[in-house]
Amino acid sequence: MNILLTGGAGYIGSHTCVMLLEQGHDVVVVDNLCNSKVESLKRVEKITGKKIIFYQQDLSNAAGVDEIFKHQLIDAVIHFAGLKSVAESVDQPLRYYQNNIDGTLALCDAMLANGVKNLVFSSSATVYGNPETMPINENAPVGPFNPYGRSKLFIEEILTDLYASDKSWNIALLRYFNPVGAHPGGLIGEDPSDLPNNLMPYVSQVAVGKLSELKVFGDDYETPDGTGVRDYIHVMDLAEGHLKALEKLQAGPGLVTYNLGTGRGCSVLEMVAAFEKASGRQIPYQIVGRRQGDIPTCYADPSFAEKELGWTASRGIDEMCADAWRWQHMNPKGYL
Ligand code: NAD
Ligand code: UFG
Repeated sequence: MNILLTGGAGYIGSHTCVMLLEQGHDVVVVDNLCNSKVESLKRVEKITGKKIIFYQQDLSNAAGVDEIFKHQLIDAVIHFAGLKSVAESVDQPLRYYQNNIDGTLALCDAMLANGVKNLVFSSSATVYGNPETMPINENAPVGPFNPYGRSKLFIEEILTDLYASDKSWNIALLRYFNPVGAHPGGLIGEDPSDLPNNLMPYVSQVAVGKLSELKVFGDDYETPDGTGVRDYIHVMDLAEGHLKALEKLQAGPGLVTYNLGTGRGCSVLEMVAAFEKASGRQIPYQIVGRRQGDIPTCYADPSFAEKELGWTASRGIDEMCADAWRWQHMNPKGYL
């Protein structure tokens, strides 16, 4: 198939590019590089020995996006492009709504105008807000409590309305849990442009000596060791989930929603210990107060994706940490 990846130069997109190319698909990427570098795509080409067609362009440029569909024969789209920092979204809600929602509207318009109706969308477990029961299945109530999460939920609703208006669309809403790790070759990985917001890139940068110590946000949660529990999923498992979702779309399922997680929760301190083991480096840390907006525990019930897609995450936290460390160690300054 010929797959268009919006945001394909980013962390999850670049790993999915590798998987798609290795499975014999052709890849077109559109990305404005606001949170990534074109070097990631060059590295993907190096890993796979295949070429990527790249458009450096903002998705909200409707005419530009339409041009891509006019020039390329696209079978399906994976829509990764979006801004993703929770804290930034609280400070700049309009920018988040504008970027994430306008970009999606322009994309869907262009898809409709060009008769492409197969779409995989990057949603997030953040749409569940603070769930009452664990593990979280796809029928759990939604209720995100920050603008980033709401932008994801609004897009899910827009896509649901689009499907209701025209049942010939096939749309997979993928709710990711906490993606971590890197391609095992060490050439591509997560490369945050600023101070990392998320735990694992922060821990990696402490291990490599770029940051001095980790701040652990709270050890007084009702969890086994008092620190926050999350469902960390290896980015290569996540990438495989996208391939399975694309296969599913070929069977014409309509609009479907899947959790992509492992079903296992790990605490902050467990992740720190696993990273120390993988890297052979000590991770100095200090316990500080809770981070505003954090929930104690979040992990998936991934059984629906297993049943419907034949997909499960197979990589454990030792592999996640070993691969994240290899990337960080081989690229201490990221892509440069
Ligand atoms: P990322 O920032 O590495 O990748 C997103 C890419 O989209 C970047 O390359 C960026 O330059 C591009 N982009 C953003 N706005 C754009 C626009 N208007 N036009 C064109 N390109 C644009 O992020 P990621 O971690 O790879 O996440 C990919 C998707 O998955 C995002 O939609 C994110 O919200 C979602 N998601 C990520 C996580 C996570 O923890 N990484 C968790 C759940 C969901
Ligand atoms: N944490 C620390 N110190 C840090 C960073 C994080 O102790 O420097 C803790 C947090 O308090 C939390 C855990 O590590 O308990 C994980 O935090 P992350 O920021 O890595 O991940 P979140 O679960 O808070 O959120 C992430 C993304 C969201 C996404 C969500 C679910 O940032 O966008 O996963 O997919 F919605």
